[in-house]
Amino acid sequence: MLPEHGRTAQDLLAELSALKAADLPVRGGKVTAYVYDTGRPEVHETAHRAYAEMLEVNMLDPTAFPSMVAIEKQVVGAVAELLGRPGAPGIFTSGGTESIMLAVKAARDHGPGGGEIVLPVTAHPAFHKAAHYLGLDVVPVPVDPVTFTVSPAAVEAAITGRTVLVVASAPSYPQGVIDPVEEIAALASARGVLCHVDACVGGWLLPWLREAGAAVPPFDLSVPGVTSISCDLHKFGYAPKGASVLLFRDAELRRRAYFASAAWPGYTIINATVQSSRSAGPLGGAWGTLQALGAEGYRELGRTTLEATRRLVKGVAAIPGLRVLGEPEASLVAIAGSDDVDVFVVSDEARRLGWFLQPQLSYAGIPANLHITVTGVTLAGVDALLEVIAAATEAARTRGPAVVPDGLPELISGLDLDALDDATFAELAASVGVDLRGSGSDGAAQPEMAVVNAVLDALPAATREAILVRFLSVMYS
Ligand SMILES: Cc1ncc(COP(=O)(O)O)c(C=O)c1O
Repeated sequence: MLPEHGRTAQDLLAELSALKAADLPVRGGKVTAYVYDTGRPEVHETAHRAYAEMLEVNMLDPTAFPSMVAIEKQVVGAVAELLGRPGAPGIFTSGGTESIMLAVKAARDHGPGGGEIVLPVTAHPAFHKAAHYLGLDVVPVPVDPVTFTVSPAAVEAAITGRTVLVVASAPSYPQGVIDPVEEIAALASARGVLCHVDACVGGWLLPWLREAGAAVPPFDLSVPGVTSISCDLHKFGYAPKGASVLLFRDAELRRRAYFASAAWPGYTIINATVQSSRSAGPLGGAWGTLQALGAEGYRELGRTTLEATRRLVKGVAAIPGLRVLGEPEASLVAIAGSDDVDVFVVSDEARRLGWFLQPQLSYAGIPANLHITVTGVTLAGVDALLEVIAAATEAARTRGPAVVPDGLPELISGLDLDALDDATFAELAASVGVDLRGSGSDGAAQPEMAVVNAVLDALPAATREAILVRFLSVMYS
């Protein structure tokens, strides 16, 4: 509510801090998804100051604020240099989704308009979102059930005369494995089709892991046939959120991502991104983080991240009832359970112990699992993390798998969701023991999610999506 009289900074900061008390902590390494922590508070503090310095600069008009053009060129230049093509044209965007949206727009507008995107089922949903927004169709290609990567032959078979873009991930988020970029890019090029590498999570990580001794196959803009690549600085660049870079093979393709409009009597619109008015704060924050860490800092973070990942993978393999899916090639690890260890229950038990392990639902023959993104800070706490995983696994074995209320998936699948308002939907869920508003049995901010996840897991993807939309709507009602 808007107060009648303005409040003091002290007063309102106290309120923000109280509101944040129930949040997952963004520092310290106990949250193994969503947040990226270097373990060096001074770096994040420097980034905050650079962010604040640029906060009120509006990136809407580069002629009005030349500072942001200079900074953007530096940031894009640094990414181009790391990703195999110094001087490659690029765009600073608000995140992976926006980079992908623009890569897909460029591909669509490069061709005659309309068309299809060929992608592995493990590709990020941002491509589905882009296709949805931009009027394209998605052609999903299954992945190998052991390696979780896509086969070049299967990608080739999916390409048609309507294909405007082929996608490979480096790595994909779900299992942290790298698609065969060289082969996919070569066959796309042979068919005259553009190829985007989604290195949102790996772009600013894989080169440093390679320097630290990891076997990282070629994946960047130096690979023939790769026409664009996305790299999120708000992931392994450790920058504050709102920072990603999209690079193109050439300026012609970048122009296809731009949008200009003179079809109104107002100011001239020329946008590089989906957003028009936007703060240069994230750009300042990203620039500040890159400058504060330098190559030396990232090299060291790459070394500790690789060591922590190896220790985690080895440690998990030794915990009865758990197994790592595939062979993680970056620092993203997916852990599956077994008949008597339900990973959704493991996640709830870990949460009780103060750690967040991200549940991933089963899909396309890939079992449900827990996702851990290892970051720079993880090494210091990797033994504690393994102890928590072991303890949570034992507790989950004792508790047994989450029980899906009898007949609930069938009931949900048969519902006409459009005929229910949000309140009725929430009541219906509560009547079968599923609390969508998320207060756990102990009443605190530790929701029991295992049953919710088990119910979702039992539903087909389209029904899951409809339910998730209702979930969000109920949360905000
Ligand atoms: C491989 C990959 N692509 C794209 C994205 C989307 O990024 P964002 O959440 O910044 O929009 C993610 C996010 O985790 C990702 O892992």
